[in-house]
Order: sequence, then C-alpha cells, then structure tokens
Amino acid sequence: MTNLATMEWKANFSVGDTKMDDQHKGLIALINQLCGEDEIDVREVLEKLQEYVDIHFRDEEALLEKIGYPDLDKQKVEHETFAKWFDEQLETYRNGGGSDTIRERVQNYLRTWWIKHILFSAKAYASYLK
Ligand SMILES: [Fe+2]
Repeated sequence: MTNLATMEWKANFSVGDTKMDDQHKGLIALINQLCGEDEIDVREVLEKLQEYVDIHFRDEEALLEKIGYPDLDKQKVEHETFAKWFDEQLETYRNGGGSDTIRERVQNYLRTWWIKHILFSAKAYASYLK
C-alpha cells in the first residue's frame, strides 16, 4: 500500500475564522487517514470525506456571502468542479473499480487540491474577516 507523508496543519493555513480552520483541519485528518498505512475501507473514507466536503463548501460559501467576498462566484465554481470530480471517483469505488493506481491518483489529487484550497483561502479571504 502506498504510504504518503501525512499533511500537517501549519499556522499560515489559518484563514482567521475558527470554524473554517477547524473544518480545514478535519479535512486534512480525513485525507491523512486515506493516505496512511492503516488498513481502511477506501469507499467508506471517501464517503465520509464527501459528506464533510459538502458541509464545508456550504458553510464556507455562506460565510463568504456574509462578509461580501467579491470572488464568491469564482469560489463556487471551483467547489462545484471539485465536487463533480469527487463524485466520479466515489462512483468508481462504489462500482468496485478502485484499483491501487486509481487510489494513488485520488490521494495525490486530494492532497494537492486541499493544500491549494486552504492556502488560497488563507490569502484570498482572510483579510475580509478582520
Ligand atoms: Fe475551505
């Protein structure tokens, strides 16, 4: 099984909102579970992650709306694009087609996407929260 280095929360990941920071931490924890060495049911973790991601996107969009973040529409499109891709990956696992290669690709993509998302969020909307 692939063992990828786990992601760690860093101070510069903070967007300045406790709820968002906590949710980002929770997402990292789930992705670490997916990328770790423990024997896991990939489909189960992906389903948990999907549920968590849905809640996070909804809460994040509500917060950005509340603070009048000017690029909310762009952020929504990014969220939608990710959700669509993620649905497709989950569908693959539900249909029993999740090979090790696919798992590795999903792991890498998730890690990259979420690190980018968190760092981008920290830069993009943190200043509106102050
Ligand atoms: Fe976020």
